[in-house]
Amino acid sequence: MTEGMLKDRVAIVTGAAGGFGRVIVQGLLAQGARVAALDVDDVGLSAMRPAMEGAGDRLLTIHADIADYAQCERAVDTTIRSLGGLHVLVNNAAVGMGVIRKDHMVNPIGIAEISPDTWSRFVAVNFTGAWQLTHAAVPHLLAQRWGRIVNVTTSFFTMLRGSFHPYGPTKAGLEAMSAGHAKEFEGTGITVNVVVPGGPADTPLVPEESGFRREDLIPASVMAPPIVWLCSDEANDVTGNRYVAAQWDVTMPAARAAEACRGPIAWPQLAQSPVWPGGKPDA
Ligand SMILES: NC(=O)c1ccc[n+]([C@@H]2O[C@H](COP(=O)([O-])OP(=O)(O)OC[C@H]3O[C@@H](n4cnc5c(N)ncnc54)[C@H](O)[C@@H]3O)[C@@H](O)[C@H]2O)c1
Repeated sequence: MTEGMLKDRVAIVTGAAGGFGRVIVQGLLAQGARVAALDVDDVGLSAMRPAMEGAGDRLLTIHADIADYAQCERAVDTTIRSLGGLHVLVNNAAVGMGVIRKDHMVNPIGIAEISPDTWSRFVAVNFTGAWQLTHAAVPHLLAQRWGRIVNVTTSFFTMLRGSFHPYGPTKAGLEAMSAGHAKEFEGTGITVNVVVPGGPADTPLVPEESGFRREDLIPASVMAPPIVWLCSDEANDVTGNRYVAAQWDVTMPAARAAEACRGPIAWPQLAQSPVWPGGKPDA
């Protein structure tokens, strides 16, 4: 990858103050991008600037709750006004099971422990939040015929496991939405891809009470190389893919590393034979 290859790009990263968010912001800044770091965590946002020395006015922090559509619209407007454009949206923010109970990995959470409000909040942040920012950003990306959307979902194992609700299903929804958006935006200059770490990672989303040794967890740093590459011109025609970041080999040229850890978004093999009047519809 060429040094400074994102110097003409502006990105919004949600959940920017979190474990992956900081790494993704740093990776994009290191390649010259201007970055709007969006989060609800004001303390985390303020801590970013000193940690990202040299970013200067290429780093903009925005307090916004992605569950609120008006705040998403405002964040997009502020980014375009303050950073001079918008090219990349990384939908990375989420709430994890630890907000219900920190020891949920060792003492599973059953349905009785999940209130309707908790269910709704997970859906609003993890699923609807990504849609809302996408909806607010897409008119601008379509108009310039260039855009990158990267959605951070989770392992299929986590989506389907027991006692991992509401988190797993919200991520399955985001995965399906990503597949649909990749198809919808084909040929428009907007690509849509998914990046997942590949398993539990060493971030605040995985509480200390989870029973893992932190050194056994996937390091947060694995998320930067695939996301930075997806934002580069080398990935202009790359859409509809899902990358497992822990399998990205940094010793390989980026395009080869990407090929080696790539699959399709979601579960397209199960979508091949709908019973449909007049034969199978176009995807
Ligand atoms: N850590 C893991 O093991 C793991 C595994 C698979 C996928 N993921 C995914 O990676 C992404 C990043 O997670 P992380 O591990 O860095 O977690 P994290 O908890 O460190 O970061 C999440 C960030 O999202 C922010 N956030 C929460 N609600 C928000 C809202 N309404 N509006 C704006 N920001 C909000 C939080 O304040 C936090 O800074 C998430 O989508 C998560 O589901 C994480």
